[in-house]
Amino acid sequence: MGETTPDFAFTESLDAEIGRAAETIEGAGHVVALTGAGLSVESGIPPFRGPGGLWTKYGEPPLDGFQRFLRDPARAWRERLEPTEPWARGLAETLGAAKPNAGHRALAALEERDALGALITQNIDDLHRQAGTRNLLEIHGNFTLLRCLGCGTRFESGALDIDPEHLPPRCPECDGVVKGDTVQFGEPIPQDVLRRCYEEVERADCMLVAGTSATVYPAAEFPFEVLRRGGTVIEVNPLESELTRLTTRFLQGPGGAVLTRLLEKVEALRARSVH
Ligand code: APR
Repeated sequence: MGETTPDFAFTESLDAEIGRAAETIEGAGHVVALTGAGLSVESGIPPFRGPGGLWTKYGEPPLDGFQRFLRDPARAWRERLEPTEPWARGLAETLGAAKPNAGHRALAALEERDALGALITQNIDDLHRQAGTRNLLEIHGNFTLLRCLGCGTRFESGALDIDPEHLPPRCPECDGVVKGDTVQFGEPIPQDVLRRCYEEVERADCMLVAGTSATVYPAAEFPFEVLRRGGTVIEVNPLESELTRLTTRFLQGPGGAVLTRLLEKVEALRARSVH
C-alpha cells in the first residue's frame, strides 16, 4: 500500500509559523512528541474519528472489550485469528500492509538530531518503530506483539506457537493468559509504559502533537500537563482538535508535509548557528 501525500500548499503565514515552531523546539530543554491515528492516514490506515474514521463508519466498539476478553479468552482469540467484525477485518488488512510515511520519517530524523527526546504514540501500527524512532512509548500497545496478562512479558507474534485447538495461548514464563499487546477498551494501560510516559511528560517543556483528536485519556491529558507547567505545545493537524484552543502554535496541515518542513526549518536554524 503506497504512501499518499496530499497536495498541500504552504501559505506564507503557515511557513512563518513553522519557522517559529522550529525556534521553539531548538530553544526547548526536552521535547516530547505525541502522535495519533492521523499521522498514519498518509500510510493508508484510516483514523478512528472524523472524516473517513473507522468509528465514524462502523460506530464505536463496545467499551468493555477487555472484560469480554477476560470472560471468554478462547472466543476472543478465535475472533482475533479470524475476525468477523468488518472494522477489525479492514484494520487487520491495512495494518499488515502499511509502511511509514514522511511524517514518521521526519520525527525519527528529529530524534536522530537530538531535537526530540521521546515519542509517545497512541498508534498500534508499528510504523514509528519501522521508521527508526528509538525512544518510543506505545501507550496503546503494538499489533505485532503479544503480552502476558500474568507477568506482563511481551512476545513477537511469531515467537509463540498458537494452536487453534488450545486457546488461549499460555505464557512460557508464568503460564499466564496471553493476549494481543493492543490495549482494548476497558483495559488498564500497562504500568511499565504508562510510568515511562509520565516520566517523559514531567521532563518535557515542549510537546509536539501530531494527528490526534486529543479525546482519549490518559494520552489526551499529556499536552495539558505540559501547558499547566508553563511549557509549550505545537500541534500539527489539518483540522482543529480538542487541544487547538489551548495550543501554543497550531500548524494546520497534513503530518507528512508539515513535519518535513519543520525538520527542514530546524536544520536551517542549526546551519545558521554554526556559521
Ligand atoms: N495528518 C495529521 N493529522 C491528521 C491527518 C493527516 N494527514 N488526517 C487526519 N488527521 C487528524 C484528524 O483531524 C483527527 O484530529 O488526526 C486526528 C485523528 O483522530 P482520531 O481518529 O480520534 O485518532 P486518535 O486521536 O489517535 O484516537 C485516539 O482512540 O479509538 C481509540 O485507541 C484508539 O488510539 C486511538 C485513540
